Amino acid sequence: MRTILSEAELQSGVEEMAGRITERYEGEPLTIVAVMTGSLVLLADVIRHLSMPVRVSLIQASSYRGGTESGDLWIRDDMMLDVSGRHVLVVDDIFDTGRTLEAVLKCIQDMAPASLASAVLLHKRERQVVDFEPDFVAFDIPDEFVVGYGLDYQDLYRNLPFLAVLDPEEIAQGAAT
Ligand code: IMP
Ligand code: MG
Repeated sequence: MRTILSEAELQSGVEEMAGRITERYEGEPLTIVAVMTGSLVLLADVIRHLSMPVRVSLIQASSYRGGTESGDLWIRDDMMLDVSGRHVLVVDDIFDTGRTLEAVLKCIQDMAPASLASAVLLHKRERQVVDFEPDFVAFDIPDEFVVGYGLDYQDLYRNLPFLAVLDPEEIAQGAAT
């Protein structure tokens, strides 16, 4: 695999994004809704740079069926807090086509939050098919399949502290395990 963002680069990008989030909410209580499972590591890091009162809620969404191409999308919201009347920030690992975030935002909009915004670690601009942008982005990356810092290939590699592009052999190997 080839590292494209080191642990130190990820940390400073996340801290910088947390700074922009802090400025935007000016001390207002914030409910973070983390899209499981890819945003797990980002969630843990970003909330420790926030100083307003923070609630954490989880939602599960998946569009990838184990491979590197998009498939059907499903959402599970049974672990959601009540967010009606609250300022909500959805946190996800990557904005690829944008379909996952679009569906999650639509689902939460129906819960009548006071405001709704989104933050992602990574944005692959070349792949975007929806006509909105996430409010906060830590890094723009080229259209390559990446793993680490929460992102997986067939549920593996989420634990890597850096972000890497897999080699074709590693993709073939993953499919065999
Ligand atoms: P979207 O709906 O196409 O924006 O896809 C978003 C979801 O696809 C993310 O939450 C990831 O779970 C997954 N995904 C997209 N690109 C990658 C990648 O390069 N590596 C790992 N997962 C990815
Ligand atoms: Mg995901």
